[in-house]
Amino acid sequence: MELYIDTANLDEIKEAHDLGILDGVTTNPSLIAKEGIEYGKRLEEICGVVAGPVSAEVIATEYKAMLSEGKERAKIAPQIVVKLPTTVDGVKACKALSDEGIKTNMTLCFQAMQAMMVAKAGAFLVSPFIGRLDDISQDGTELISQIRTIYDNYGFETKILAASIRHPKHMLECAMIGADVATVPLKVIKQLMQHPLTDKGLEQFLADYQKAFG
Ligand code: G3P
Repeated sequence: MELYIDTANLDEIKEAHDLGILDGVTTNPSLIAKEGIEYGKRLEEICGVVAGPVSAEVIATEYKAMLSEGKERAKIAPQIVVKLPTTVDGVKACKALSDEGIKTNMTLCFQAMQAMMVAKAGAFLVSPFIGRLDDISQDGTELISQIRTIYDNYGFETKILAASIRHPKHMLECAMIGADVATVPLKVIKQLMQHPLTDKGLEQFLADYQKAFG
């Protein structure tokens, strides 16, 4: 399973990259707004740190504007993946960009048929938002499962990128189902490597060693 970090914060990206297990980065307009920096400049900085796919979301919502914004973003670096909303115009832009060899990440996917349509349009990634479905008492990981089945039934090559992941259990469920990628905030990436019994056990090992040998 590939692991992306979901942030536009450069320090967090560097910290995750230094772990040696980071495969890519996703950003979105809300994340870049938190940073208060020009989007293109931050994307250049991110691409200077991470060689893997870096998702850059368009702000435009209309087909032609999405297309030209997507093409501009794609010029920033070879690893840029143009992130588009899964709307009617977004799917159309996905098809046009994919036909030109530009990779796309179709975001804000909340139902399996959206995922099928973006796969037919040639999307490189689809981003189902698990946490936001759970927030409204729907089953986010069930959506991942439905998409996995559909993609396997028809041999679609679009990668399932589980997004809006809030805790390690989300990640576990996605890994069990077979999501190809998960994009995760730094806090959750760290939680994936932690357990209270690990800390307790280590403390005990060191205390025993200290007692025996000083
Ligand atoms: O980047 C998209 C997604 O991961 C957002 O997550 O926590 O804002 O629902 P969240």
